Amino acid sequence: MKFGRHTQKHSSSLSIKLVILVSFIALIGAGVVVDLLWASSSSSSFSAFRYVSDNWPSQQSLNLNLTSLPKAKSKDKGKDGAPERILSATFADLPGPELHWEKMPTAPVPRLDGAAIQIKNILYVFAGYGTINLVHSHVDVYNFTDNTWGESFPMPKEMAHSHLGMVTDGRYIYVVTGQYGPQCRGPTARNFVLDTETRQWKDLLSLPVPRYAPATQLWRGRLHVMGGSGANRYTPELDHWSLAVKDGKALEKEWRSEVPIPRGGPHRACVVVDDKLMIIGGQEGDFMAKPGSPIFKCSRRHECTMRLAKPCTVALVVYADVYMLDDEMKWKTLPSMPKPDSHIEFAWTIVNHSIIIAGGTTDKHPNTKKMILNGEIFRFDLDTLKWSVIGKLPYRVKTTLVGFWNGWFYFTSGQRDKGPDDPGPRKVIGEVWRTKLSF
Ligand SMILES: *[C@@H]1O[C@H](CO)[C@@H](O)[C@H](O)[C@H]1NC(C)=O
Ligand SMILES: *[C@@H]1O[C@H](CO)[C@@H](O)[C@H](O)[C@H]1NC(C)=O
Ligand SMILES: *[C@@H]1O[C@H](CO)[C@@H](O)[C@H](O)[C@H]1NC(C)=O
Repeated sequence: MKFGRHTQKHSSSLSIKLVILVSFIALIGAGVVVDLLWASSSSSSFSAFRYVSDNWPSQQSLNLNLTSLPKAKSKDKGKDGAPERILSATFADLPGPELHWEKMPTAPVPRLDGAAIQIKNILYVFAGYGTINLVHSHVDVYNFTDNTWGESFPMPKEMAHSHLGMVTDGRYIYVVTGQYGPQCRGPTARNFVLDTETRQWKDLLSLPVPRYAPATQLWRGRLHVMGGSGANRYTPELDHWSLAVKDGKALEKEWRSEVPIPRGGPHRACVVVDDKLMIIGGQEGDFMAKPGSPIFKCSRRHECTMRLAKPCTVALVVYADVYMLDDEMKWKTLPSMPKPDSHIEFAWTIVNHSIIIAGGTTDKHPNTKKMILNGEIFRFDLDTLKWSVIGKLPYRVKTTLVGFWNGWFYFTSGQRDKGPDDPGPRKVIGEVWRTKLSF
């Protein structure tokens, strides 16, 4: 069922429209909001797209004047009772060149909000949600040389399952905090190190407090952890800590407090390049557990704004901001991304002195307030400090995990859109795609 999707033809029967209308009322009545954002595993209406050109809207939808459009909610009905789309759902897409994508072997499991680290020709893919009620606790290994998924091995039981901070020195992978468990449970403060040569896991000194999806990098011999959300998943935190590390071990007994980041919040890309530490995109706020829910059921923040005034006053904001730390140890502002972009922690890689970022989420839809995914590949040229859109993914996708090997740009996992003309999140995927990059 293509929910809320407008078709030109009037061939759909009245009964189907009634079913849609009744389903809508039932959903609203039951207060079910978040489940719509999650994939139904039975959904098979979106087969793989080989050709990008079929999967992107025409340019006409890109330049809408939003202020001239009537205010509408998605539940408004047309005359015949069918949901009517007022504002193009695709208004946020930026134009960009089309790329030819090749579909590679699908990952053993679909995952959302997982993590990935590339070491040479190997992509280590960690954790993630399979569904909102199921989280993975293992690592899958993809080999870029022969393009196969090989071994899988378990993570420590105490390690977080999503929204992790993660970075490597080329052998050891440092794993920082993250959300422990499914739905909208809170983060842990526990940290771990994986030795990729021996597959041994070790404990690392815990963070002073738990953090949800903090920016994490190795810089000048220190493991830096910045921002993220607090234990409620929502409150943007500005803290910045570092710990001297070497060969997978902490060299200090305590985390050191460093200069706080200018804006807090989760889901950012964090990159060290040219001996500078950069933080890109991200957001303030996120889904929270419904108060009192025994399963920590996720609830949408603006929904709770209506019910509980006090703790729910801040709206979710997505950033295009880029901040940098250098020798001076003062945060500097670099040119912003072409549009706000979040859920990109492991969606970046470095190619020829440019940072490449794939997909993500942008500002929510102005009328429906629904999450909107990005399908662009962004490039930040470190020579000119200019951003550009260098291509389109086969579909819009968030929390995708990327790698680059031998001229090929790869992505896997995440949550993709509902279709070419509906950028809302739907299916959690394990697909792997690659394309040749050149710029
Ligand atoms: C958008 O539409 C509004 C209302 O029709 C108008 O006042 C405004 O000038 C328009 N803006 C642009 C950029 O066209
Ligand atoms: C990756 O694949 C290549 C080619 O089959 C193989 O030689 C290599 O050992 C593999 N690497 C790992 C770590 O499995
Ligand atoms: C990166 O540079 C190499 C060497 O100049 C070139 O062959 C390659 O095409 C470049 N990659 C991209 C993505 O442009």
